[in-house]
Amino acid sequence: MRRFFAVLVCAGVAASALFLGGCKKSGPASAGALIGIAIPETHVTRWVKDGETLKSEAEKRGYRAELQFGDADQSIQNRQIQTLLGLDARLIVVGNINDEVAPVIAEAAQKNVAVIAYDRLIQNSADYDYFITFNNYKVGVLQGQSLANALGLEQADPKAPKSIALFAGAMTDGNAFFFFDGAMSVLNPYVENGVLKVVGPYPKTSADKENFAKIATEGWQGTIAKARMAGLLKEDAKSVTLDAVLAPNDHIARAIIDACRADAKYKGKLPLVTGQDAEFESTMLIKAGEQLSTVFKNTSKLAEAAIILADQIVKGETPSIPGAVLAEGSLAEMGNTGKKTVKTYLLDPVLVTRDNLNVPIDAEFYTAAENEALK
Ligand code: BGC
Repeated sequence: MRRFFAVLVCAGVAASALFLGGCKKSGPASAGALIGIAIPETHVTRWVKDGETLKSEAEKRGYRAELQFGDADQSIQNRQIQTLLGLDARLIVVGNINDEVAPVIAEAAQKNVAVIAYDRLIQNSADYDYFITFNNYKVGVLQGQSLANALGLEQADPKAPKSIALFAGAMTDGNAFFFFDGAMSVLNPYVENGVLKVVGPYPKTSADKENFAKIATEGWQGTIAKARMAGLLKEDAKSVTLDAVLAPNDHIARAIIDACRADAKYKGKLPLVTGQDAEFESTMLIKAGEQLSTVFKNTSKLAEAAIILADQIVKGETPSIPGAVLAEGSLAEMGNTGKKTVKTYLLDPVLVTRDNLNVPIDAEFYTAAENEALK
C-alpha cells in the first residue's frame, strides 16, 4: 500500500517541476532524461571532440543532452553547471577547470544529481562518487620513454650529455602533476648518471612546487608556453643547443616548436618534442618529423565509457564499463580528491611516433579528410 502510494505521488506530480526532484533519486525512467555535459575549454581542440562525442553517445542511449563549453574560466563553467541543474539534469559530466568548481558540485549533490568527473579529478570535494580518465601517470611514462629512446640515453656518453628543457601543464589541473611525475620517473635516472642535462628549472618531481611552478603553463595556454620557450632560448638555453623538450600536450608542443622555428639555431634541426592528445595538427608534424611523439588517448572511447557509466548510475546499476578498469591498489589514489577517494575508472593511453601513426588512424580518430592528409 505504501509502495502504491509512493508510485501515485510520483505519478501525480509528474507535471510539477518542484516534485520531480524529490522523485528523481529512485525515478524508474531514464528515457528522455537530461544529461548535462560541462567541458572546460576549446583552445585545446581535443575537448571539442570530447563534448560532441559525449552528447551523441548520450542521445544514442535515449537521453537528452545539453553541452556547455567553459572557455577555461571556472566562474563561467560554474554558471553553466547551475544552468544545467536548473534544467533538471539527471546527471552531469564535468571536465572542470580548477577546484573552484567544488561549490557547484555541492549544489548538485544537494539536488541528488550525480556528477561524473570527466578526464580531470574534481579536487577538494566529497560531493560526488565517480571519476573516469586515462592512466595519466602512464601518459607521462610514455612521454619520458619516447625521449629516452629517441635520444639514445641508454647508450649515451656522460662526456657528451644530451640537453633537455622541461614544460608542464596547468598547476590547477591535477593531471599535469601525474604527467610530469610519470615522465620524470623515466628521465631522472639519466640526469643522475650524467647523460642528460636539464636546461632551465629542474623540479625532479611535481612535489618541488617552487620549480614546478616555473615550468608549469597557466591554463594550458600555448601562447604562454611559446613566450616561455622564446625566453628560454634567449637566456638559459642561449649557449646550448637543446636536443629535446618535454612538452605535456600537443597544443603546448606546437607552441614550443613554433618558438624554436623562429630561432636560427634550430633551422633544419628542431629539438625532439613530446606531446599528448594525438591532435591532427601534431600527427601531421610527427609525420613530417617535426614533433617526436604524442600520446593517443582514445577520447571517443572515454566519452562512450563515461556515458555507459552515466547510464548505469541513472539506472541504479553496478557500474561495469567495457574497456575501462576500476583503479585498485596504489592506482586508486588517482581518485583521492583530498576529501574522499572516488571510484576511478581508467582507460589505457598509447604512445604514437612516426612508426605507428596508424594507431589513431585505425581507431577512426580522425575525419576522412584528415586521414587522407595523413597518408
Ligand atoms: C587533459 C589533456 C589536455 C589538457 C589540456 C588535461 O587535463 O588530460 O588531454 O591536453 O588537459 O586541455
